[in-house]
Amino acid sequence: MTEEIEQELIEENEVVSLEILDDGVARLTIERESALNALNVETLLSLRDAIIDCAESEDVKVVILTGSGDKAFVAGADIAEMKDMTPLEARDFSHLGQDTFATIEACPKPVIAMVNGFALGGGLELAMACHLRVASSKAKLGLPETSLGLIPGFGGTQRLAQLAGAGVAREWILSADMFSAEEAHRVGVVNRLADPENLEAETFELARTLSSRGALAMKTANEVVRLGLEVGQSEGEASESDNFALLFSNEEAREGLKAFTEKRKPNW
Ligand code: CAA
Repeated sequence: MTEEIEQELIEENEVVSLEILDDGVARLTIERESALNALNVETLLSLRDAIIDCAESEDVKVVILTGSGDKAFVAGADIAEMKDMTPLEARDFSHLGQDTFATIEACPKPVIAMVNGFALGGGLELAMACHLRVASSKAKLGLPETSLGLIPGFGGTQRLAQLAGAGVAREWILSADMFSAEEAHRVGVVNRLADPENLEAETFELARTLSSRGALAMKTANEVVRLGLEVGQSEGEASESDNFALLFSNEEAREGLKAFTEKRKPNW
């Protein structure tokens, strides 16, 4: 797809909204409630664009990503759009989803998925590309692709195995079952559970806590964890030492350490 066509699609479709709230917390909402926020090409392009905006904005410290309405976070890739795809189009679609989710994972600001309902297929893959997940206790999660004769195509085969181990990944993918938020929490797919009526408050509380932490330290931590998953323990630890050392050359750590010894909050 050419850059020109991508740009036109982004301008014509307001399928992702961005609000920047107090304390540097940005809220990105996928606005396709009538299709349970399913991910079509336009939505993936808009999402990628919105994440880049958040990454570049000096006003944003933490991003919360969610779906509109109270029924679904995201119910998967758009099945209507996939129905007539050729194999080559399906590969491009998979690459677009993977690239969008890699952009989220590489975002220098922490990204929290606020899982307000169904997170299925590409929706769960999206939540897993975020750095943290807070789920409503009524949410249902799963990778139902094999029930459609497919496999996950937006990174799910890899990220679920990383988060919960190969045994859980195989069970979820092969069975295509939906799992409760409680089960997802038990196996490590979800970080925190909240009652539906407290989901927003608890997610925003977590976001505000993160916005008070060292921004460069959080960015570096996310990068080192990611790298370790790709290269293994010894190279991961080498990168940990290098990055630990590098932070001492920055004002953020100088101020953080000084503030502790002076019994005050850091002034970042
Ligand atoms: N794609 C496109 N449209 C979708 C959708 C999807 N993934 N999921 C739901 N919708 C649409 C429905 O077609 C329906 O639209 P209409 O009102 O125009 O008919 C609307 O959203 C509401 O959905 P339902 O009527 O089905 O709502 P429900 O409460 O009966 O069921 C549900 C909810 C169990 C989530 C059901 O919608 C469902 O099973 N959705 C599909 C889930 C799925 O299989 N996701 C994986 C997609 S494949 C994938 O993601 C591949 C990949 O990895 C890249």
